Amino acid sequence: MRTEYLAALGIPVWVLRDSSGSGAAAPIEAGEDGDEPKHATEAATWEDLADAVQGCKLCALHRGRTRTVFGVGDRSAELLVIGEAPGADEDRQGEPFVGRAGQLLNAMLAAIRLTREDVYIANILKCRPPSNRDPKPEEAEACTPYLERQIALIRPKAILAVGRIAAQWLLQSDEPIGRLRATIHSYGNPGIPLVASYHPAYLLRSPRAKAKAWEDLVLVRQLLRDTS
Ligand code: URA
Repeated sequence: MRTEYLAALGIPVWVLRDSSGSGAAAPIEAGEDGDEPKHATEAATWEDLADAVQGCKLCALHRGRTRTVFGVGDRSAELLVIGEAPGADEDRQGEPFVGRAGQLLNAMLAAIRLTREDVYIANILKCRPPSNRDPKPEEAEACTPYLERQIALIRPKAILAVGRIAAQWLLQSDEPIGRLRATIHSYGNPGIPLVASYHPAYLLRSPRAKAKAWEDLVLVRQLLRDTS
């Protein structure tokens, strides 16, 4: 009944697909001990940047990681999706948003006729925090130059920040996600339009919030259309 109601409102109901379609990332070789980590700003190319991330020891999270999670998707994408940090599945596979939240993210993208391959997906942190705790400010600070370099290389038309942590960090705000969403913000200089929305993991726990997330996705879709 609820499904019919949402459909009548034009709100897609995101149903989890099975996980077989997510695809694992290519294996990454471990960085050599003793390598000095390069600074992100020295990384002229994607390959340099990926190498720098792979060997990064700028914060304590490198000690607990299985793999770094660099980012995935189209390196010339119009839309950049930014989440918080890798979870257990992502740490194992070296790819962002491959767990249940990732399946829902795929469905959210499908609702605006995009696939995972059409966009670029990254996180504030490239390494998993222990027990999925929130990133510490010093961890986010150490990792941000990598994300900034990715943004400079991609030059997306719009950014979708999913979840409170990503939205607050990118916008340097303490406002709750409920107040940051549903608005077009500007990130960086020159400003890239940024929409904040709920994290798919939150939507899995609170499916009623999907209607609001859908409104945010419509904003993203409009942004991509307006700027094309
Ligand atoms: N949650 C995130 O914010 N990022 C991931 O890559 C996975 C789960």
